[in-house]
Amino acid sequence: MSAALSALSSTDSAPPQHFEIRPFSEAVGAEILGLDLSQAVNAEDFQRIHRAHLDHHVLVFRDQRITPEQQIAFSRRFGELQIHVLKQFLLENHPEILIVSNIVEEGRNIGLGDAGKFWHSDLSYKALPSLGSMLHAQELPSEGGDTLFADMHKAWEGVPAALREVVQGRSAAHSYTARYAETKFEGNWRPTLTAEQLAQVVEVIHPVVRTHPETGRAALFVSEGFTTRIVGLPEDESRDVLQQLYALSVLPTNVYRHRWQAHDLVFWDNRSLIHLAAGCPAHLRRKLYRTTIQGDAPF
Ligand code: SIN
Repeated sequence: MSAALSALSSTDSAPPQHFEIRPFSEAVGAEILGLDLSQAVNAEDFQRIHRAHLDHHVLVFRDQRITPEQQIAFSRRFGELQIHVLKQFLLENHPEILIVSNIVEEGRNIGLGDAGKFWHSDLSYKALPSLGSMLHAQELPSEGGDTLFADMHKAWEGVPAALREVVQGRSAAHSYTARYAETKFEGNWRPTLTAEQLAQVVEVIHPVVRTHPETGRAALFVSEGFTTRIVGLPEDESRDVLQQLYALSVLPTNVYRHRWQAHDLVFWDNRSLIHLAAGCPAHLRRKLYRTTIQGDAPF
């Protein structure tokens, strides 16, 4: 358990809250009903949430009327927060929050409109990728806008023996810039990166199969969004192997599709899952606030 998780907090002696953890029938995920994150969460309730996060990989906290400060405070209980490289889209006075939004106001994008356009694990392009991310719904479209999550433990279990032999023990390169400017959603979302921003996102190398630092379970750790090549394989073979791994990762039996409801707060484990924003019609407004918790160096 990380230092942040074990640290005592001033809320540890708060009264217990009565809440239910209800697993989804899909591949992963559980709904948390009856918990109010605008109120203190004591140590015992926090441990239940932490355990559920490890077991179900994505938790949906329903009906959370919380402020950005409360989202940041709850996120910090799981670890240090990471500040996104696209400073243009950080919430004013709260740089811990990345605005994910397709809204254009006075000719300016208020957030990153095509965040999550390809399957990915948040910040896998950093030496210390994310432990988990929290996304809090602010404004939702009447149609579309779903987020999909794929279980990378199941993905690894499903890799056939011959392919396992090819990738076991190998590493892969991850790059923020590889598909940065590729368009998928309508709109012009990607500002040109400055030299300072580029210096923050230099290519990194991570194991193709990682061990979850808290559960010890193996998970595939490659994604179409950020993985560019498998180190030590010829280019053609690397491309072909990655395509096979991507296809196995997102088999329908591995995937939970989140259909957003007003005031949902969704908290997923980037060490166990990859995710994808399905997109929505461009004229419908969508805005969410994301906090990103730093994890360990993958091993
Ligand atoms: C993300 O990848 O963090 C954004 C996901 C979404 O907008 O649904």
